[in-house]
This record gives sequence, structure tokens and C-alpha cells, in this order.
Amino acid sequence: MSAKSNQRGAKAPLLGSKIKLNIEKLAIGGAGVARHEGMVVFVPQAAPNEEILAEITLVKKNFMEARVVEILTASPHRREPPCPVAHTCGGCNWQHITEEEQRRQKHTLVLETIKKFNRDLEFNYLPIQPSPRVLRYRNRIQPKFKNGRFGFFARNSHQIVETMDCLITEETLTDKFAEVKAWAEKKNAKDLQRLEMYIAEEGDVRYGLITDEDDGIGFSQVNRFQNEDLLRTALDWAGDGPYKKVYDLYAGAGNFTFPLAAKYAGSEIIGVELNPKLVERARSKITDKRMTYFMSDVETYMRRASIGKDDLVVLDPPRAGASEYTMQTLAAAQPRKIIYISCHPVSLARDLNWFFAQTQKLGIKYKLDRVQTFEMFPQTDHVETIAELRVDS
Ligand SMILES: C[S@@+](CC[C@H](N)C(=O)[O-])C[C@H]1O[C@@H](n2cnc3c(N)ncnc32)[C@H](O)[C@@H]1O
Repeated sequence: MSAKSNQRGAKAPLLGSKIKLNIEKLAIGGAGVARHEGMVVFVPQAAPNEEILAEITLVKKNFMEARVVEILTASPHRREPPCPVAHTCGGCNWQHITEEEQRRQKHTLVLETIKKFNRDLEFNYLPIQPSPRVLRYRNRIQPKFKNGRFGFFARNSHQIVETMDCLITEETLTDKFAEVKAWAEKKNAKDLQRLEMYIAEEGDVRYGLITDEDDGIGFSQVNRFQNEDLLRTALDWAGDGPYKKVYDLYAGAGNFTFPLAAKYAGSEIIGVELNPKLVERARSKITDKRMTYFMSDVETYMRRASIGKDDLVVLDPPRAGASEYTMQTLAAAQPRKIIYISCHPVSLARDLNWFFAQTQKLGIKYKLDRVQTFEMFPQTDHVETIAELRVDS
């Protein structure tokens, strides 16, 4: 292939060529970020503040990708991963970086991403909340089984990295790996690359296959230790109320809905969730007439919702975030407070942008009061963030 010119007219190096790079920081997706002749280069498995020899693996108009060939000057934050298969397993992409630095990178990444989409937005950005556990925190995993091999997919591959342990998973689950492997061997089904194991609410370990007809447990918070902190923060930031109605959008099986119902004893509580299994699980626990759980897509629900100025809205969408329509409708409804819990900084930043564009258009005064990043998924680039929006009186 021929060399491409970047925006400044400099020629990008050819695919396969080797260049020296200084890694400045880490990006969403986990790769190290470097610059070469004004062009951004993403380098998976690199660490911040290190010099590497890299081979170019992808050249696009505005960015390149490269792989680490040699570490010339190691990052002060680089370490030997605690897990022996971390270099090949696709499960964790930040095990080679100290936890302290993982947290520093996440804290900065979330702030930069919000600012990138919302340059003039002012808010109180609190220090990152560390996870009570950095290893042995996961209570739901999807191991793979193929041709007698049990483990996890290798990085960017469907090859199986064999292992009978996973250091980020709770021991209650890893203790059952041998049993699940034996079960998979006997089962001899096609779908064994879609196994699921989890610790149920009742405390017992369950496992099975995710199929086209059965999506397994559906969503559940994977780090129950940090979920406690997140829940406490959401309830605290939601304030004393009182609220006429409390909405929990993207409610899952009621992780926030039931504690909200307990806190706001005089409020009507409304959960909205699309997954029928999760709705069923939540409904089976409802004992209070104040609570209603709708099985609905949130956007569809918003078309007929009557959210008012005396209400609280909690929303915790999937990685794709909420829709533009949902954010615009929320802005127009002017609930007294909104608590937005996000598992993807880009969708949070974009949703905030949609929200504030609408408040500006309608002449409504809202404030992004505070934002805090939560270390929910240590050893990976994934991050959770909580944001409080309130009417600015
Ligand atoms: C990040 S989870 C949060 C669940 C819950 N708040 C919790 O903490 O366990 C997002 C939830 O949104 C649900 N969901 C995804 N898309 C949806 C949609 N368009 N409308 C309603 N719910 C949706 C998923 O099934 C999932 O339960």
C-alpha cells in the first residue's frame, strides 16, 4: 500500500514499518495513545509514560494502530500482571498497569470525554471511588469450552486460552470451573462458547448456556462490592426529597428501584426495563402498591410518560446510552433531580450534550452539579460514572 498523508500533510509510515513512540496516556478502549508526525497512534498493551518500538498495523486517514515490538523505556506504572495468562487472555487489558495508575487514567479519561462534548459545562468533579476489591470481584462471567479446552477467548481471537482460574472472578465461581468443564464435556453442544456462570441473589452458583432463545441471567452488576458504594452514592445524591414520583429508567431487576422505594416512602415508584426476565424478577419482589414496573423500551415509555417538576429520575442505560429523544424529553419535563449512572463515558458525554442543548433551547436552567467516576471493573478500561443534574434555582 502507499503512504497516506495526514491532516498536516505529513506522510504516515507504511503498514508494517517500525517506529519509536512515546505513550502519553490511555484511551477509551484501553490502548496507549502516542503521536507520530501529528497523527494519533493507538497501541494496545502499552502503558503511559513509556518509550516503545512499535510496528504499524493499521493506517487510517486520521489515526494509526500499532503493536508493541519492544519496550525501550518501561513505564513507571508497568508491572508484571498478577494473572499468568493476562498477556494472552482477552478478559483484562490493563493488568500490566498498577491499580493506582489505572484509577488515575480512568479519572482523567472521564473528565476529558465530558469536556470534549461539553466544553463550557462546569461541574464539581469528585475524586475517583476505588473498588473495595481489585481482584476476585466478578460475580458473573462467560467462560468458553471448545475441543476439550476450557477458558476464555484470547485477545482479538476466538482461540481459547486455557485456564482453571480467573483472578478477577470471585472464588465461589472459580472453585466450580472443574465441575463446569466436566459438564460441558458431557453436554457436547454447539453453543459451548456461550457459557455463563454467576452467583445468584440467593448466593448459590448457577451455570448454563446462553442461546438465541435464552439470554441467561440478563443484566446484573458484576462487582457487588463496589455496587454497594454506587448505590449509597446514588441515594445520597438523590437527596431528601420528598418527590411525588421516582422513576428508575433502565431498571434491570430493581438494583436501584427497591432501595429508592425504601428511601422515598411517600413516593410513587416506577421502574422501566426492556428485558422480560428482569421485569419478571423485579415484579416477583414487589410487595408495595406504590411500585409499578413497566416492561418497555425507555424511549417508547417516554412518549407517554408524565414526568413532572416534583419528580426524581434515575437512569442507568446500557453502554449505548440513552437516545436523543429520551434526553430531550427529560430536559423538557424538568424533574427536580436526575441521577445518571453510566458505564460508557462517551455515551454519557453525548447524552449530557443532548440534554443541555435542549435546556438551552427551551430556556430552562439546569446544572450538572457533581460527577464521580467509580472503579467498577478493575484490570480493564471499563468504567462507571455517576452524575447529578438538578434544576438551577
Ligand atoms: C446498565 S444496566 C442497569 C440495570 C440496573 N439499573 C442495575 O443496576 O442492575 C441497563 C439495563 O437497561 C436495559 N435496557 C437496555 N436497553 C433498554 C431500552 N431501550 N429500554 C429499557 N431498558 C433497556 C438492560 O436490559 C439492562 O437491564
